[in-house]
Amino acid sequence: MSAEIASPGSTLDGFRHADDPREVLALALDHFERIALSFSGAEDVVLIDMATKIRPDVAVFTLDTGRLHPQTYRFLDTVRDRYELDLEILFPDTESVQSLVREQGLFDFYERGHKACCQVRKVEPLRRKLSTLDAWITGQRRDQSTGTRHELATIENDAAFSGREGRLVKFNPLAQWRSADVWAYIRANDVPYNALHESGYVSIGCEPCTRGVLPGQHEREGRWWWEDVSQKECGLHAGNLRKAG
Ligand code: ADX
Ligand code: SF4
Repeated sequence: MSAEIASPGSTLDGFRHADDPREVLALALDHFERIALSFSGAEDVVLIDMATKIRPDVAVFTLDTGRLHPQTYRFLDTVRDRYELDLEILFPDTESVQSLVREQGLFDFYERGHKACCQVRKVEPLRRKLSTLDAWITGQRRDQSTGTRHELATIENDAAFSGREGRLVKFNPLAQWRSADVWAYIRANDVPYNALHESGYVSIGCEPCTRGVLPGQHEREGRWWWEDVSQKECGLHAGNLRKAG
């Protein structure tokens, strides 16, 4: 099956025939100089394993919201060492965080929803980073969310953010992989993983907004569990909400 392409653009037609994540990554890294991989500190580490085999000095960044689990911080450093990455850890703007928590406290998202906190701690730092790039790579998959990601394309024009020259291409090489494919790859390639996965955590985000799931529960039920399934996007992938809506 070929990768589905939402808005290929004439120079990206080669991707029409790419179906394996490694093939998509190779094409993406070959095509764009200013491209970076967005690493969440969870099972999207498979992309780092694949990408460093293609380009050992691939640019990787992570958004440190200040609310991650201790295990995730440890894991970020493990991955940094294992792949000898120049891992860029991005922080939110100090004054914005201070105003947010002074006005709303540290846990108001349980009552008022997660959007405001995610905006300050994730979306704004991401926006700043993406404005320096022409393309970015994410570990999103269709099977991560029936509510918002079921139509995810392998390559799309990212209309939610602006790149260095206005245009931004977004690659989701794992779009068509299922969780089982990811874990088969992790085991087969001896890829390190976040210790939280050994305690019932599947999808991992910030500590106050993530919990483990029971056998048979969908992984997204462990994220923002107090909110409707159709709203479980934090703004990094805002285009998914528009498609779902
Ligand atoms: S989220 O939007 O709901 O938080 P999710 O956890 O499913 O996203 O991860 C999907 C992809 O979004 C990851 O593979 C990664 O590319 C990107 N991502 C999510 N959280 C972060 C983060 N803290 N830092 C960098 N990238 C992230
Ligand atoms: Fe804040 Fe939760 Fe969003 Fe993290 S996931 S930025 S703690 S609302």
